[in-house]
Amino acid sequence: MSEKLWGGRFERSTDEMINDFQASISFDKRLYREDIQGSIAHAKMLARCEIISVDDSEKIIAGLKKILAQIEAGEFEFKTALEDIHMNIEAALTAEIGEAGGRLHTARSRNDQVALDMHLYVRRQACEIRRLLIELQKALVDAAEKNLGVIMPGYTHLQRAQPILFSHHLLAYFEMLTRDGERFAGVYDRANIMPLGAGALAGTTFPIDRNFVADELDFDAVYQNSLDAVSDRDYVLEFLAAASILMVHLSRLSEEIILWCSREFSFVELDDAHCTGSSMMPQKKNPDVPELVRGKAGRVIGHLMAMLTTVKSLPLAYNKDLQEDKEGLFDAIDTVKFSLAVFAQIIAGMKVRAENMRRAVEEDFSNATDLADYLVRKNIPFRQAHEISGKLVHECISRGIYLKDLTLDEFKSFSDRFDADIYEALKPETCVDARNSLGGTATEQVKRQISNAREWLKEAAQ
Ligand code: ARG
Repeated sequence: MSEKLWGGRFERSTDEMINDFQASISFDKRLYREDIQGSIAHAKMLARCEIISVDDSEKIIAGLKKILAQIEAGEFEFKTALEDIHMNIEAALTAEIGEAGGRLHTARSRNDQVALDMHLYVRRQACEIRRLLIELQKALVDAAEKNLGVIMPGYTHLQRAQPILFSHHLLAYFEMLTRDGERFAGVYDRANIMPLGAGALAGTTFPIDRNFVADELDFDAVYQNSLDAVSDRDYVLEFLAAASILMVHLSRLSEEIILWCSREFSFVELDDAHCTGSSMMPQKKNPDVPELVRGKAGRVIGHLMAMLTTVKSLPLAYNKDLQEDKEGLFDAIDTVKFSLAVFAQIIAGMKVRAENMRRAVEEDFSNATDLADYLVRKNIPFRQAHEISGKLVHECISRGIYLKDLTLDEFKSFSDRFDADIYEALKPETCVDARNSLGGTATEQVKRQISNAREWLKEAAQ
């Protein structure tokens, strides 16, 4: 008999280069746990439905458990000639237990088998990523709480716009990551459907019990159409889409941290343990980690594009193109998990240069909106108040001073509504705490965000 589990129909063995080309074992071996878990459930079902004997089923299950232990101990030899994880395990099983091993694949195809493995794997990874997301979110809330009171300029167009709390800025990312977690929960839900029993494409002639397998493996539902069951990779696409959006969020924060670390901003300093130097320039301390995360976002987005392109013109049902769903997905998973873990460290170790942030607020005009709002409260229509404030800013710029440096008489020469209380209104703290609208940057609002976030984290930990 040929070593191939499908060798019966062939006269000649596979060309060696073709074998290497089409084998997936080098990367799909990471599905071994899911493959064995799925096969155990399948074997139980086959016996329960009297398709194989209880004795054979028990032998199969014991053999699979032994193989699992061998793989985990690094004692299993994966063979390229056996193409993929499914045939590597099945061949080892038959070598181990003899004829009963050959009964495991009854009522099953690798097409529904690989679909099952991938559903189990995506489900597990979605959970792991949610856990890592929570760790990073916790680091953000800790930093927000520790630095409450630090005022920085908020930006639009990367121009100083209005004073905000640094904590408010960090908590914006907390919110983004909350949505990422929800997206991965959605990925889990859509992957939580059981494809086995679809056979190669059309179902099977054996009296199987798909719901039993679904229960064994904790799936919520079974695919209702066998063609869909073996062809569907939506859950892979959704995973990659969720991963891409998450990486875009990390990339935006990376970009900000990189800017903040520059001498031009000097808003934060990363821990020495998280940076590297230059082989040539002795003064350098480079923010490699956020730079790499920003770079890796492109890589994950690339995997999403590759997968969309792979499936976009595939006819039903299984096509070998679908084997290409794995490397990109696996790489995206590794990249996202690594990025989340290092980012939590970066945030926890980041030193905040509050004095530089404050200087950037004070030596500029980010309180100009507050000047206009002051006049509005003195009953001047906003449009007119905007105009007066703009003129005052212009006056200050031409004299090289700031709003707080103007005398009350100078203020009054632009509007008789100005009083001595204008100086209080222009202070960064006043500007911040005045924005006490729901979700605004006022200390009260930010404290509320922090306590909501803490509550959220407590629930998420359960
Ligand atoms: N290694 C294959 C994959 O990942 C398993 C399914 C192969 N099915 C087949 N009919 N050749 O897609």
